Amino acid sequence: MYLILLGAPGTGKGTQANILAERFGWPHISTGDMLREAVAQGTELGKATKGYMDQGALVPDDLVVKMLVERLKQPDAAKGFVLDGYPRTLAQAAALDEALADDKKAIDIAFNIVVPDDELVRRLGGRWLCRNCGAIYHEITNPPLTPGKCGRCGGELYQRDDDKPDTVRARLEKQKPPEDLMQHYRGKAKLFEIDGSEEVDGVTAALVHGISEAPGNVWS
Ligand code: AP5
Ligand code: MG
Repeated sequence: MYLILLGAPGTGKGTQANILAERFGWPHISTGDMLREAVAQGTELGKATKGYMDQGALVPDDLVVKMLVERLKQPDAAKGFVLDGYPRTLAQAAALDEALADDKKAIDIAFNIVVPDDELVRRLGGRWLCRNCGAIYHEITNPPLTPGKCGRCGGELYQRDDDKPDTVRARLEKQKPPEDLMQHYRGKAKLFEIDGSEEVDGVTAALVHGISEAPGNVWS
């Protein structure tokens, strides 16, 4: 199954993609994680994209599309994936459709996770991530057992540079899924809206229900 998680920053895309990937055995493909890795490694892509990310702006389509299309060619993506944070523009969606169509495939379902802005600010301000395995914590709602240490792998926890209050504000202004992108999936009857303000388990249950109802589903 080819699945997309859309939603503003902090709606829980990464949290839910981690859970679905583990549960169904699909790779979790996060363009944000890939770009942060490129910045950390100091690659050409990282140097070209860091400025946009620091400002809370979207990285230009051509750079992200090229990176994503390369990733989709890897064998683990052949039987399904959970895409987290891609597409963010209509042009990115069109490029994805084209890449999948080359292999006679198509997106099965796109979930748009919706959470009120004030809750998103609370979530991003308290988020901690594991440098080693990518596990996602929140200092109030999902704290690690030992502060600063990942409960899953023992790795070091850190806060993202773009979770500073000014950058969070910019991201929330600039990065809600645009209407033409939603219409792209709504028009194909593939868009499902999910209330992301529930607890993590409740959101997962809604996603799993949506997956089980998807046409052609073989996973329920
Ligand atoms: P990206 O890494 O994708 O960031 P984002 O979209 O801003 O989303 P986040 O990762 O901040 O939030 P999330 O929805 O994953 O929430 P999470 O699960 O962590 O992108 C980063 C940057 O890269 C962008 O700004 C852009 O510059 C660039 N970029 C990436 N993709 C791009 C693209 N396609 N095109 C152009 N540019 C691109 O949860 C957040 C917190 O809430 C955590 O603390 C978590 O524990 C907590 N939480 C989660 N769910 C719940 C719940 N149900 N209840 C309570 N707390 C919860
Ligand atoms: Mg994320």
